[in-house]
Amino acid sequence: MLTADVIVDLQYGDCGKGKVAHHLVHTKKYTHVLRYNGGCNAGHTIFHKGVRFVTHHIPAGVFFGVKSIIGPGCVVDPDQFLREVAMLEEGGVRAKGTVFIAHNAHVITRAHKAEDAKKGGKIGTTGQGNGPAYRDKYGRTGVRAADVPALKPYIIDLYDEWFSGTKSLKILAEGAQGFGLDIDWGDYPFVTSSHCTVAGALLNGLPASSIRQVWGVAKMYETYVGAKKFQPKGKIFERIAEAGEEFGATTGRPRQCNWIDMRLLEHAVRINGVTHIVFSKVDILRAVGAWAVVEKGKPMAFKGEKEMKAFLTKRLTALGIAKKNIFFSESKERI
Ligand code: IMP
Ligand code: MG
Repeated sequence: MLTADVIVDLQYGDCGKGKVAHHLVHTKKYTHVLRYNGGCNAGHTIFHKGVRFVTHHIPAGVFFGVKSIIGPGCVVDPDQFLREVAMLEEGGVRAKGTVFIAHNAHVITRAHKAEDAKKGGKIGTTGQGNGPAYRDKYGRTGVRAADVPALKPYIIDLYDEWFSGTKSLKILAEGAQGFGLDIDWGDYPFVTSSHCTVAGALLNGLPASSIRQVWGVAKMYETYVGAKKFQPKGKIFERIAEAGEEFGATTGRPRQCNWIDMRLLEHAVRINGVTHIVFSKVDILRAVGAWAVVEKGKPMAFKGEKEMKAFLTKRLTALGIAKKNIFFSESKERI
C-alpha cells in the first residue's frame, strides 16, 4: 500500500514548510520524502544539530536519513544539486544513498540560468533558470535528468520505487513556493512556472486515492519576493519585515509584507483540500503588537492576538478543518 501526506504553502512561499516537514518526519514514520515541484528557486534554511544548512533542491528528509526524492514535477540544476550533496556530506549529513532524482525530472542548463538572469527581471524571478527549463520541457526540447552522466548515481525510476515492492510506503510530499505563485492560480504573470498545489504532488506518480493528510502552511502575515508592488504604505510593514527577518533565502532580497488576504487563504484551503493548517510567526505580530487581515480587499484590525486567532479559527472550521487541526506556531523549530 502507498499513502501520502502533502505539505502545501498557502501564500507566496517561505511560510515554514521546512518546519512542518521536520515535525511530521519526527512524529510519523515515512519511507520517503518527495519534493514535487520547482527547481533551485526554492530556499530552505534548516538548523540541524546546531549547524545552519541552506538547500535549494534537496528535500528536508535528508536530515533524518529518510530516502529523499526529487520528483518529475521538478527541474534540476546538476551543478547546484551536486554542490548541495557535497555541502551536506561535508557537514556530516549522509546525502549519497539517501537523495535521488526521478529519471524523468527535467534539467536546468547553464543556458537556462543565463537566460533567466537576463530576462527574468520583469517578473522578479530568482534567476535560477526555472521558467526557461519548464518552457523547454513543455516545448519538448528539454533534457531529462537520466541523460546527464554526472547525475547517473542518483537516478531512480519512480514507478519502480512506488509500485514494485511489497512493503507499504508512506510518503511525505513537500512542495516549493506557494499558492499565490502557482502557475495557474497565482497572480499571473507574477508566478513561478510550476504547480504549487496538491495537484502538483499528484503529477509525481501518486495515485489520487493515496492522499491522506494535506498540511497547509501559512504565515500570520504575507510576504512576497518579486517585481510587483505588494507591500502597502505604512511603517508597520517595515517593522514586521525587520522583526520577521524577511529576506529571501535564495536571493537575499527583502520580502514585501502585507496582512493575510482572507480571499487568497480561502481559495488555497479549498483548492488544496487542506485538512491541517499551521500559521507560522505568531511571535512576530506579537513583537510588533499589531493584528489584522485583509478582508474583501480592505485591512481589518483586531484588538489583539486572541481575537485574530478566533477569527481565523472560525473561518477555517467553516471550510471543514477540525479545530484540533489548526495550529498557531511561534517557534522556528516547532509547530
Ligand atoms: P522563479 O520561480 O524564479 O521563476 O520566480 C517567479 C516568482 O516566484 C518570483 O517572484 C520569485 O521571487 C518567486 N519565488 C520563486 N521561488 C520562491 C520561493 O521559494 N519563495 C518565495 N518566492 C519564490
Ligand atoms: Mg524559502
